[in-house]
Amino acid sequence: MKVLDELFGLRAKRALVTGASSGLGVTFARALASAGADVVLVARRKERLESLAREIEALGVRSLPLAADITDDAQRDSALAESFRAFGGVDILVNNAGIADLGQPENLTARQWEQVVAINLTAVFKMSQAVGRDMIERGQGGRIINISSVVGQVANSIFSTPAYAATKGGVEALTRQLAIEWAKHGITVNAIAPGWIPTEMNIDPRHGDVHPKYKQRMIERTPMGRLGEPRDLIGALIYLASPAAGYVTGTTLAVDGGWLAW
Ligand SMILES: NC(=O)c1ccc[n+]([C@@H]2O[C@H](COP(=O)([O-])OP(=O)(O)OC[C@H]3O[C@@H](n4cnc5c(N)ncnc54)[C@H](OP(=O)(O)O)[C@@H]3O)[C@@H](O)[C@H]2O)c1
Repeated sequence: MKVLDELFGLRAKRALVTGASSGLGVTFARALASAGADVVLVARRKERLESLAREIEALGVRSLPLAADITDDAQRDSALAESFRAFGGVDILVNNAGIADLGQPENLTARQWEQVVAINLTAVFKMSQAVGRDMIERGQGGRIINISSVVGQVANSIFSTPAYAATKGGVEALTRQLAIEWAKHGITVNAIAPGWIPTEMNIDPRHGDVHPKYKQRMIERTPMGRLGEPRDLIGALIYLASPAAGYVTGTTLAVDGGWLAW
């Protein structure tokens, strides 16, 4: 339908998704490509990115797999330079890559804290800064979508993840700040706060699922009475990336089965 295509279509847009080698990032990359965007895939596991890129190209759009550790300045800069060179720019940046610490605050090591901050917060800023500069120079505006978490707004009552919670709170503050600074350039900056979704981040390999003890608690505390699935996030992502959300900036959209509404 023409009106839907005008509101939500992403044809001729160029997207970059970090953390596109597993979990939510794979779903985001596929969804953006299905809406018509070319997609740059960034993460460390090269083979996974290459296989996803082949799948995405079969949809009739371009895809560029770029293996990089985005906490490493040289690797991140080279991936960005390569994506600007190959696609001419990035219109939609999805800062999705993330890791979680597990450890009580009194025992968390400095190294654990620093690693989580480096990927979940510092890399989000550095990616946004580089892509934001390019968007400002090209003068066509753009979209930045940061993947936060419900624990950016409330404490994590399931796992002890002090660094993770702190970085997600930071991501939401950064989202607001970038939004007001770059609104004049037509760049919108928003976040999505997912609830609990089984991925490599929280699946216990011994069970092939979230550990039953934690899973039960997650379900009990989720008003909708189930965990999320990656596809639950597709609508929010495409909306925030699309022309339909042109007047939406600085906000965090929770897709959490009601977790934050208690
Ligand atoms: N699953 C949930 O319940 C949930 C809930 C709320 C928020 N989130 C957020 O959703 C995002 C995606 O998480 P997920 O659940 O999909 O977890 P996941 O399956 O573990 O995916 C994490 C992704 O981040 C990438 N990554 C990690 N460190 C990286 C680095 N240094 N450089 C480049 N890429 C790196 C990983 O790729 P490589 O290992 O190949 O580098 C992987 O693709 C995260 O920001 C997470 O905090 C998840």
